[in-house]
Amino acid sequence: NIKACLFDLDGVIVNTAKYHYLAWKRLANELGFEFSEEDNERLKGVSRMESLEILLEIGNKEVDENTKLKLAEKKNGWYREYITKMDESEILPGVKDFIKTLKENGIKVAIGSSSKNTMTILESINMVNEFEAIIDGNKISKAKPDPEVFLLGAEALDIKPEECVVFEDATAGVEAAKRGGMYAIGVGSPDILKEADKVIPNLENVSIDILNFE
Ligand code: G6P
Ligand code: MG
Repeated sequence: NIKACLFDLDGVIVNTAKYHYLAWKRLANELGFEFSEEDNERLKGVSRMESLEILLEIGNKEVDENTKLKLAEKKNGWYREYITKMDESEILPGVKDFIKTLKENGIKVAIGSSSKNTMTILESINMVNEFEAIIDGNKISKAKPDPEVFLLGAEALDIKPEECVVFEDATAGVEAAKRGGMYAIGVGSPDILKEADKVIPNLENVSIDILNFE
C-alpha cells in the first residue's frame, strides 16, 4: 500500500537535464574534447564532483584537485545562468496534474534530488510549497546511487520505504530507490531504465493506478 511518492527533480519535474548537459558539454569542449548525449546518461543523478570525475575520464584528462574545484564552479556558473532564467513554463507536462491527483488521494509528495541547486530551481518554477519534504544535495553525504536521499525523504514524511514510490529519470536514481527498498518508476526510456519496476515516458496523463504493484 503506497503512501508516498518521492520525485527526482532534474529530468522528472523540470527539464534541467538539458541545461546540465549543455553546461558539461561546454566545459568538455573548452577542455578540448567532445561530449555526447550518450556520455551524459552517466552523469544523470550523480553529484557535481562525481560528474566532473566521469567527464574528465571520458576526455582522458588528469588535473589537480584545485583545478577540479575551479572547473566544477565554472560549470555551475553556466548552469545557474540557465536555471535562474527558468519559469513555470518549464515544468514538464503532466507534473502539476499528477501531484494534484496524488494529494487528492492522500499520498504524500517529496523531492529527493542530488542537486545543490534544488531550492533555486523550485523557486524559479514556483513549486517550493508543493512538497511536504525537500531533500537535496546539501542535506546528503552520499549521492545516488546511494539510497540516502530517498531514505531521508521517507523519514521526513514518516513513511516506511516499502510504502514509497520513487520517480526517476536516471539509472543512478533507480538504483538508489531499489537499494532503499522502494518501488521505482522510471521516467524516460525502458532501454535505459532497465532496473525500474515500471517505466513511463513522462508524467502526462498518468493515473493513480500506476501506484498499484500487485
Ligand atoms: C542531479 C542531476 C545531476 C547533477 C546533480 C548535482 O542529480 O541529475 O546531473 O549533477 O543533480 O547537481 P548540482 O546542481 O548540485 O550541480
Ligand atoms: Mg534526474
